[in-house]
Amino acid sequence: MLEQLTGHEDPHPIYERLRAHGPLTTDGGMWVTTSHALAGRILRDRRFGVRPADGAFAGGASLLPESFLELDPPDHTRLRRLATPAFSPRKIAEYRARVERVADALLASAGDEFDLIGDFAAPLPISVISDLLGIPDEDTAEFADYGALVAASFDSGVTPEMANANDKVLALFDRLISQRRRTPGDDVISSLVAAEAEQRLTPREMLGTLVLLLVAGFETTVNLIGNGTRALLDHPAQWRLFLDNQDLAPAVVEETLRWASPVQLTSRIAHEPVDGIGAGEWVTLLIGAANRDPEVYPEPHEFDVLRVHKPEHLAFSSGMHYCLGATLARMEGDVALRALARHVPGLRQAGAATFRDSVVIRGMRSFPVSRS
Ligand code: HEM
Repeated sequence: MLEQLTGHEDPHPIYERLRAHGPLTTDGGMWVTTSHALAGRILRDRRFGVRPADGAFAGGASLLPESFLELDPPDHTRLRRLATPAFSPRKIAEYRARVERVADALLASAGDEFDLIGDFAAPLPISVISDLLGIPDEDTAEFADYGALVAASFDSGVTPEMANANDKVLALFDRLISQRRRTPGDDVISSLVAAEAEQRLTPREMLGTLVLLLVAGFETTVNLIGNGTRALLDHPAQWRLFLDNQDLAPAVVEETLRWASPVQLTSRIAHEPVDGIGAGEWVTLLIGAANRDPEVYPEPHEFDVLRVHKPEHLAFSSGMHYCLGATLARMEGDVALRALARHVPGLRQAGAATFRDSVVIRGMRSFPVSRS
């Protein structure tokens, strides 16, 4: 059933058909779960990993240097630890004022009619992660195009276009790395270069980490902002509620993550037999479906910003791969929504949205809106 999914249609009817078969079922010869409880348990269970127990690369041919998202302990633990300090709640709180300035500037320069994605939701996270990684402004556009291609490769595999872009970006990162070796700054590249000098990671692992941060930073938060804005405009009573009380921003962010999860699925492989799942067998965890599990969320298909989120949705996954950028993404979503409420309270949809093709990353390609 999952192979029938397209990037632009509502996936939930298919998720519900799978849910009817119980918490764990098979689809196209693969285990699949729609259950919040089971998906959460698998994500936290050390008997599952992200690659086969013999360490073979799981995803087939790839040009990308591997990142810790695709690694099990002990490598995962070592590499994640090196990237973690840049995402501490204190660091993120320090970035907030900068993100506010970028959001204000983008909305101030947008016309009466603009594309919410191209003119606001995409450039905001691109600017934030470029800053965090220390990517100079003149290189940002090239990195952004590359991020989009890598994200597309999650669905379609590696294309020749992608291979080209890959070479270019690795060369760009190489240049930035050599520059930071000479003159370290206060950015992630500099701190990874220092770790490499102490042989705590290899040059290839450093590249893998940088590409992961780049793609994760570019390609997910844009959809949190886009999906959240669209949900609010499609539910005018909730948009009014938010306009009247902008401190609801964190609640809108959480409900968007649950109801329109930017990352819809992930997978894990059993390293030993677990409850009927054989060693070496993969399980697809449908995050988007788990986040609408009626056992956890009453009226799960309703978008309700006043909902109580207990337990937490799985939009950021769970367990050891829990999204490292969650605090950053939440802050960016919060800042973006408040900026919209302040600058364009009369916002309305001004044309048909177009959607991304991906079934993994859900969001819009363009969303025409008007200020009034
Ligand atoms: C709304 C925005 C975001 C969503 C929905 C999201 C979602 C996710 C999910 C579901 C995973 C885990 C996948 C799995 O368990 O297989 C993940 C991992 C990760 N995310 Fe995010 N993410 C977002 C934003 C960000 C940002 C802004 C960054 C920072 C640049 C980031 C960095 C990472 C990293 C480094 C990992 C790998 C963690 C690990 O393997 O230990 N994410 N993210």
